[in-house]
Amino acid sequence: MGQIIVLDRNMINMIAAGEVIERPASVVKELMENSIDAGATKITVSVEDGGRKLISITDDGCGMNAEDLSCAFDPHTTSKIKTSKDLQGISTLGFRGEALASIASVAQVKAVSRTKNSPGANCIEIDCGNKSSLSPASVDYGTTIQVRDIFYKLPARRKFLRTTNTEMGHITEHFIRIALANDNLDMALQHNGKELYRLSDRQDIRNRIDELFFSEFGENLIETESSEKELHLFALLGKPGISRTNNKLQYVFLNGRFIRDKFISHAIKEAYRGCIEPSRFPVVFLFLKMPYENYDVNVHPTKIEVRFYNANLVHSQVLGALREKLLGTNLQTQAKLPPAENLRKGDFSSAGHRNREITDAMAEFFKKHSPIQTQQQFGPALKKHYAPLHPNARQVTESQAAPSGPIGKKEFLQIHDSFIVAEADDGFIIIDQHALHERIIYEDLCRRIQKSNLESQKLLIPESFQLTDAQADAIGANAELLEKLGIELAPFGPRTYAIQAFPTLLAKAAPVDFVKDLIDLLTDKGLGLDAEQLLDEVLNMAACKAAIKAGTKLTDNEIEQLLADKETTERAGHCPHGRPTTIKFSITELEKQFKRT
Ligand SMILES: Nc1ncnc2c1ncn2[C@@H]1O[C@H](COP(=O)(O)OP(=O)(O)O)[C@@H](O)[C@H]1O
Ligand SMILES: [Mg+2]
Repeated sequence: MGQIIVLDRNMINMIAAGEVIERPASVVKELMENSIDAGATKITVSVEDGGRKLISITDDGCGMNAEDLSCAFDPHTTSKIKTSKDLQGISTLGFRGEALASIASVAQVKAVSRTKNSPGANCIEIDCGNKSSLSPASVDYGTTIQVRDIFYKLPARRKFLRTTNTEMGHITEHFIRIALANDNLDMALQHNGKELYRLSDRQDIRNRIDELFFSEFGENLIETESSEKELHLFALLGKPGISRTNNKLQYVFLNGRFIRDKFISHAIKEAYRGCIEPSRFPVVFLFLKMPYENYDVNVHPTKIEVRFYNANLVHSQVLGALREKLLGTNLQTQAKLPPAENLRKGDFSSAGHRNREITDAMAEFFKKHSPIQTQQQFGPALKKHYAPLHPNARQVTESQAAPSGPIGKKEFLQIHDSFIVAEADDGFIIIDQHALHERIIYEDLCRRIQKSNLESQKLLIPESFQLTDAQADAIGANAELLEKLGIELAPFGPRTYAIQAFPTLLAKAAPVDFVKDLIDLLTDKGLGLDAEQLLDEVLNMAACKAAIKAGTKLTDNEIEQLLADKETTERAGHCPHGRPTTIKFSITELEKQFKRT
């Protein structure tokens, strides 16, 4: 006798369920999507024990009549498509007719539903594929589906469920995605009888984000909208200061469906290039709309991936729109301090390391400068304050002589020879002098090099250095680049070269050090850079070396120049490596901290 048998229907469904129903969160996702497809305006999700014990979803959608309810839990039953032609432009979230059958094959399910014009509701129960007959029920129109004890007949699958917190985390994530994509719906999420979210349909998307993420982003989201050809884009772009170590806070929606797409992720990454450190990920909420016929959703069981028919176009439009907005915006980070309560208690644990650093910096600033704030005239108290801090106090003393004082007149101040504190219209900013100067030089270098070779000056005494044959070859091979940079090198003996001329703009860098590092870069084939990237790397390096270092005392004129250049430099909010150059503290935030409001 042969070994092969045909599996019975329940077995087939149980196995198929593995594809769509991985954990309680998958049930929540599928049921919520069904409610949205049913035209619901209100959805309530209630779960117990991380969804292990109960998942219950109630909507006020179109409901199902007796006939539909009795077959909705059978495999491959759907009201959303009829012929293969319908697959070419799917406008609903579901269409595979698998979810309810899969869920009902791995749990105890009870569904009650009523259409708007039917006098009564119907109820059906399915226990791991075993269906009861319909019975009457009395509820308002809409649908409620309750899913109990998921995987209870599949101990191997149940064993894989994680802690209540982890499962609840997954559920919340799906709830958030659906809530972001449908800000026109009333929605609630409850866990063990406690309400986690209640979202009103009257919220706009910004309010909804505030509520979903506990106002974490505040002023740090920039809005942009564009419509080109058949793609409409609306985005809220996180400023670099709120970037993350992973891409979890990149939410991309296509016609109301949360998707992950490598072309779009790439476009986002490219758009932020130079604004953010390469290892970080920006916070982005991106809402795309395009004709349903322009992409295929039938590529992945959970429909999280789609296939664009013209992926390049999507990529270039997303990149273009985001990049244009980011370049044209002041990306200065708005400092967010820990709640005033925490500040007083000295408890920073919830506020995180970054906030703590900012608060420390601020506390330091006010500790030092409180006399400035309280006394309009600057007397001995102030001098006493400065004297031990600045051995080179001449300049400070001079400015104190002016009756208006440093903050009053100059409106800036250098602290620890590394940071500049300056007054802004609605608060004050702290500038990292090295990072800002680096950006200014970098932009200046880019501008100049686009026009012609960098201006250079002959060294009075040529500086010589030794190199290997490979390095000498690299000099020969990159003659054009060196000329562009305004660097003149000449052989000066065996394996020795001399620097004859050096770019004026890099006056602060030591020529030999710079040229040696440059040659290292040119010989590092591992980097695999094309000519443009190489030039960019070189300019980056040049800017870093030529920029004033932290720990350097600056004169008033230098600070004034730096502040003036900041205003005219593109992307001045971040250094070329993407680190912030400036952090802003608003008056509103300060008033909150000092409990003035
Ligand atoms: N909440 C609901 N309200 C009204 N009808 C529903 C609801 N949930 C499911 N249905 C009906 O049951 C059918 C099967 O659902 P499902 O198995 O999720 O497949 P799909 O969503 O892919 O069609 C749906 O096509 C729809 O007609
Ligand atoms: Mg469905």
